[in-house]
Amino acid sequence: MLELHDIQGSILRRNLMPCGTYLFLRIDDAADGRRWLRELVDPVTSATEWWEATRTTLNVGFTHAGLAALGVPISDLEGFPAEFRADIAARREKLGDTGESSPDRWDRPLGTPDVHALVILHARDEATLATECAWHGALLERTPGVVPVYEQPVAQLPTGTEHFGYRDGIGEPAIEGSANPVAPGQGPLLKAGEFVLGYPDEGGELAPLPRLDLLGRNGSYLVVRKLHQKVAEFRAFLARESVKLDGSGQPDAVERLAAKLVGRWRSGAPLVLAPDRDDPELARDHPERLNDFRYRDEDPKGFRCPKGAHIRRVYPRDALDLEGGLVNVQRHRMIRRGLPYGPWLPESAPDDGVDRGIVFLFIGASIARQFEFVQEVWINDGTFAGLGPDKDAVLGANDGAGTMTIPVKGKIYPKIRGIARFVTVKGGGYFFLPSIRALGHLATAGAGAAERTPRPPSIPPERAITAASITDPGGPP
Ligand code: HEM
Repeated sequence: MLELHDIQGSILRRNLMPCGTYLFLRIDDAADGRRWLRELVDPVTSATEWWEATRTTLNVGFTHAGLAALGVPISDLEGFPAEFRADIAARREKLGDTGESSPDRWDRPLGTPDVHALVILHARDEATLATECAWHGALLERTPGVVPVYEQPVAQLPTGTEHFGYRDGIGEPAIEGSANPVAPGQGPLLKAGEFVLGYPDEGGELAPLPRLDLLGRNGSYLVVRKLHQKVAEFRAFLARESVKLDGSGQPDAVERLAAKLVGRWRSGAPLVLAPDRDDPELARDHPERLNDFRYRDEDPKGFRCPKGAHIRRVYPRDALDLEGGLVNVQRHRMIRRGLPYGPWLPESAPDDGVDRGIVFLFIGASIARQFEFVQEVWINDGTFAGLGPDKDAVLGANDGAGTMTIPVKGKIYPKIRGIARFVTVKGGGYFFLPSIRALGHLATAGAGAAERTPRPPSIPPERAITAASITDPGGPP
C-alpha cells in the first residue's frame, strides 16, 4: 500500500489550481533553515489532502547543496544518485543545454549552488496566492538565514492552452496504488516505485537511496525547467512551412502542420484517432478517448502521427516494438506538472519581446533514467526511431537547419526544413521531494519526525474548491 498521507501531493496528483508561484531559496544558516522548515511541514499538502485543499497547495523540495546546507550528514548525501549530486548545470551536454540554452545564460541564480530549496505554491486565485505569499514572506522575516533568491509566478492562460496554442496535460502515467482513476489507454498500470521511492519499480527493484528509512521512503525527485517559448517565431514557421506541405497556405494547412509536429491537434484530439481533420467532439471526450490509442498496429509507418511528432517521441507507447523491442518504454515515463508563465501573445500580434513560456516540473524516481533519457535520446536524437539526426521539431536543440520527416501515403515524404530552436531553457534545477515525515525529520535535525497537526482552513467552507467543483481547464497538469 502506498502511504499517501506521507507523500507530497504534487507527486501523485494533478494540479487543480490555476495560478501559483515557484520560490527558490538559499539557506545561509542551518538553524534558521530548520526553523523555517518546521513551520512549513504542517502546510505541506499530502496526496490524501490534495482533493480537500480548498485554497492552496504547497510542496517543498531541496537540491543536494540545500540538503547539505540544512545539515544532512555527508555520509547520507553521498548516497544520492550521481546526477542529483552533480546538479542540472553539470548535465548541460547530455540535456542539449548549449548555445542560447546554456546554463551560463540562465536567469541568475538558477542552475548555481546558490539554489537550495524550492517552495511550490499553487492557489485558487491571485488574491489567495498573494495572501499565502505574504504569510510565507512573514515566515522568512523571522528566519533571515533563509533567503529568497528567485521567484517565478505562473498561471494558466486565458486560452486554456500552453503558449503555442496546444492543449496540454492529457497524457499521464497510471500509477498502481495512487487511487487516481485510470482512463482508457492510460495504462499499463505502472509500479509505484517508478515515481515514489521506497517501493518496487517495474524491474522489481528499489531505487538506491541513503537512509531509506528516514530520507528516502515516500520521497521522489523533481526536475524544474523554465522553458522560454518563441511564440512569434513558431507561428511564422508554421505559416511558411505549411505552404510547402500542402501548397495552400490556408489556415487549415497551418493547423495540419501544427498537429503533425505534436501528434495531436491543438484541441488535444490525437492524430492516430483523427488523422485528417480536427475532431472537436473527440477532443471534448477527455479523459475517455484522448489517450485510447496505440501506434504499432494503428499507424506503423507514421502516416497519421509522424514518428518524429512530439508525443510519439516522448512516449512511443508500443511503437518501439517495431524497432526490435530493445527499449522498455515504460521505464522512461514521467509525471509532468507545472504551469505557463508570461502573458498570452494574441494571434497575429507581432513579437513583443516579452518573456513567456512554461515552467515544467518533471517527477520520477530516477532523473537519469526518466527525464534525462527522454531529453537526450528521444527529444534530441532521431536514431531510435530511424529518423537519423532529426530532433523534436517543437523543442529540440535545433539550430535553424533542423528537419522533420512527415510521411504521406503514396508520396515521397516531404521534409520540413529550417527548424529553429523555438524553445530555449532559462533555468532549472534538480530537487529531492522528501516525504512529509522526512521533512519533519530534516526540520528537527534528527530529533525524530515532527507531529503533523492540520492547519485550520482560513476561508469559509462554502467557498472551498474541491476536485468535483473544478472544471478541467485543459491546461498543463
Ligand atoms: C515548451 C516545451 C513543451 C511544449 C510546448 C510541450 C507540449 C506538449 C503537448 C502539446 C503535449 C500533448 C498533450 C498531452 O499529451 O498532455 C505534450 C505531451 C507530452 N510532453 Fe511535452 N511539451 C514541451 C516540453 C516537453 C519536455 C521537455 C518533455 C520531456 C523531457 C515533454 C514530455 C512530454 C510527455 C511525456 C508528454 C505526454 C505524451 C503522451 O503521454 O502521449 N514535453 N507536450
